[in-house]
Amino acid sequence: MESKAELRHRIRWQRRQLDLSERTRAARRLTAVLRRSRWYRHSRRIACYWATDGEIDLSDFLQQAHQDGRAIYLPVLKQKPAKTLRFHRYRPGEGLRANRFGIPEPLPQQANRIACRDLDLVLVPLVAFDGQGHRLGMGAGYYDRTFAFTRHRRGRWRRPRLLGIAFSFQRIAELPTEPWDVPLADVATEQGLSRCQIERRARSSDTNRS
Ligand SMILES: Nc1ncnc2c1ncn2[C@@H]1O[C@H](COP(=O)(O)OP(=O)(O)O)[C@@H](O)[C@H]1O
Ligand SMILES: [Mg+2]
Repeated sequence: MESKAELRHRIRWQRRQLDLSERTRAARRLTAVLRRSRWYRHSRRIACYWATDGEIDLSDFLQQAHQDGRAIYLPVLKQKPAKTLRFHRYRPGEGLRANRFGIPEPLPQQANRIACRDLDLVLVPLVAFDGQGHRLGMGAGYYDRTFAFTRHRRGRWRRPRLLGIAFSFQRIAELPTEPWDVPLADVATEQGLSRCQIERRARSSDTNRS
């Protein structure tokens, strides 16, 4: 099995090789996949991300979601508590400023901030994922730390749902995982939803039977 570092390197490199027409087509398809999904229909407050490092671009989706009356939020990096995210309201066309990684983020005005628990849906960027909702990120653990509180919940709909976003090629058979990794409810790609939950349920009932 490839190590996490090897996987990150290989997939990030592959992702940067996609050409503009492939990216544009994938982003458009992803917008359609998302807007058709129940995750979207049941969500009013949606956290997105600003694409970097060749990540699938959500600006097409942002525009549409805004027109559909959804409130959109973007992450702002925080050092206190260390390496966590806060989410601030963003309306397409508003000014953003680059953070220390050069990623545009909203001005962190208190009035525009939302508590993570009040988000309905979080679109989570990732480097790799598998069929069980495991996620490999860039390696700094921002999303794991910020959404650690979602790990111990069971059963019914609870805010927020974490939906991974990726190109379909970023799926791998099985990811090495750590105890602190926050599982995704599902992953959306340009090809559709990966139905992680269903696979996870099927697996656990197999285990129960044996
Ligand atoms: N809830 C948490 N509390 C403290 N540290 C965490 C937490 N979640 C992740 N980390 C730390 O973040 C670092 C990166 O995590 P990792 O899962 O490898 O990255 P990524 O999720 O970006 O792929 C690890 O050293 C891990 O210890
Ligand atoms: Mg992790």
